[in-house]
Amino acid sequence: MKIKIKRDEFIEYEVQNKNQTLLEILNEIKTTQDNSLAYSSGCRSSVCGSCAVRVNGKEVLACSYHTKDGDVIEPLRNSEVLRDLVVNMDKALEFNKKAKAYQSKTSLHLELTQENEKINEVQSDCILCSSCYSACPVYAVNEDFLGPFSLTRVWRYVSDKREDNEKDKIDTIQTNGVWDCTLCNECTVVCPQGISSKADIEKLRMKSSIHGYSDPNMGSFGGGFGFDGSPSF
Ligand code: SF4
Ligand code: SF4
Ligand code: FES
Repeated sequence: MKIKIKRDEFIEYEVQNKNQTLLEILNEIKTTQDNSLAYSSGCRSSVCGSCAVRVNGKEVLACSYHTKDGDVIEPLRNSEVLRDLVVNMDKALEFNKKAKAYQSKTSLHLELTQENEKINEVQSDCILCSSCYSACPVYAVNEDFLGPFSLTRVWRYVSDKREDNEKDKIDTIQTNGVWDCTLCNECTVVCPQGISSKADIEKLRMKSSIHGYSDPNMGSFGGGFGFDGSPSF
């Protein structure tokens, strides 16, 4: 079978179809055809998140995706391409810090029940693969947008009953944060861990409302024009 890989330009490779994963095929190409091919990998078992690429326009983990004839392989979008399929993931990771996506002042003496743990169990499974950033249309046009996994991570801590500084976290995500998301759900579709950043962003919007915030985009509708075209305030 033939697959195409985006390097400086698209290059076609002929490989055996042995129901291999894409990562196995990349390894095969590198060892038998072209040792200059660059890609990232680590665990080979969908745990480290380092091998995410796009196949036919959709984000996948190369170590779990089974390649088909005609597949077109490209690096993740919305990140600097360092070489071939290797991208710089630092920028997306920086947003965790900017979004204060960490536990701050805590009441660690509070014990979590099993029910408490279930609230953010899924969000704790993020493997930082950056697929959601690659798929996000808002991040594509606004690179200051805090983006899917950082906001998911904020929800992970805001929903932890040991977190003492919820208000500070909610204040931080008002600009380039929860209200900038279009709720398109692309991040959910591509997440290999079944995390819905869209759903987490909706929950953060509700929390924001509890803290007195509202959707700034709605203001322009409320202060719009009357039936006769005159401005209404
Ligand atoms: S739902 Fe929001 S965060 Fe997710 S991809 Fe769409 S715009 Fe981005
Ligand atoms: S939320 Fe999902 S898609 Fe986004 S970085 Fe984490 S594991 Fe990857
Ligand atoms: S190599 Fe670790 S997730 Fe694919």
